[in-house]
Amino acid sequence: MKRAFILLIRLRPRLAYGVRDRLLRTDSANCRSCHDESGIEPGFTRGKREHERAKKEKITCIACHYNLVHKKVRPREDFLVRSKGLSPKERQLIEEQEQKQEQKQKPEQGG
Ligand code: HEC
Ligand code: HEC
Repeated sequence: MKRAFILLIRLRPRLAYGVRDRLLRTDSANCRSCHDESGIEPGFTRGKREHERAKKEKITCIACHYNLVHKKVRPREDFLVRSKGLSPKERQLIEEQEQKQEQKQKPEQGG
């Protein structure tokens, strides 16, 4: 009994990753089977703004709502990047880091 519990705790992150990845591949089909995107009207400014952005930039539900159930399982960085769930500011930071990395790799180029 106790062992099964410990196993479950260990597997939890992997299970959550798997479900998130599947939702990403299917454009959150499971969510859409119950929720109609155009019918969702978050009551607060942040939710309204984020749902506007989601429609405009075609960001899928799970990109932002990955914490709905598995709150404690932190998303992997590559999930955040692939899902476009990062804020514009966070994305800019990552791009800047990548550019710096590239510049380091070919220092002789351009001068
Ligand atoms: C089986 C139907 C069903 C599925 C599948 C489903 N939801 Fe829901 N969801 C509901 C219902 C019912 C509510 C509660 C009533 C409401 O707020 O509309 C709800 C509430 C929510 C809320 C508000 C929760 C809160 O704390 O106020 C969010 C956010 C949400 N769902 C997102 C999602 C996302 C993202 C997915 C896919 C990962 C999903 N739902 C899948 C039926 C579903
Ligand atoms: C770009 C980020 C983002 C995306 C993509 C997104 N949401 Fe949300 N959503 C939010 C935020 C932020 C809120 C408001 C805070 C909260 O309730 O968590 C919200 C609120 C909600 C709510 C609660 C609305 C209420 O009654 O207050 C539901 C339900 C919901 N989202 C479902 C969905 C579903 C289904 C999808 C995909 C079709 C989706 N969201 C895509 C960010 C997003």
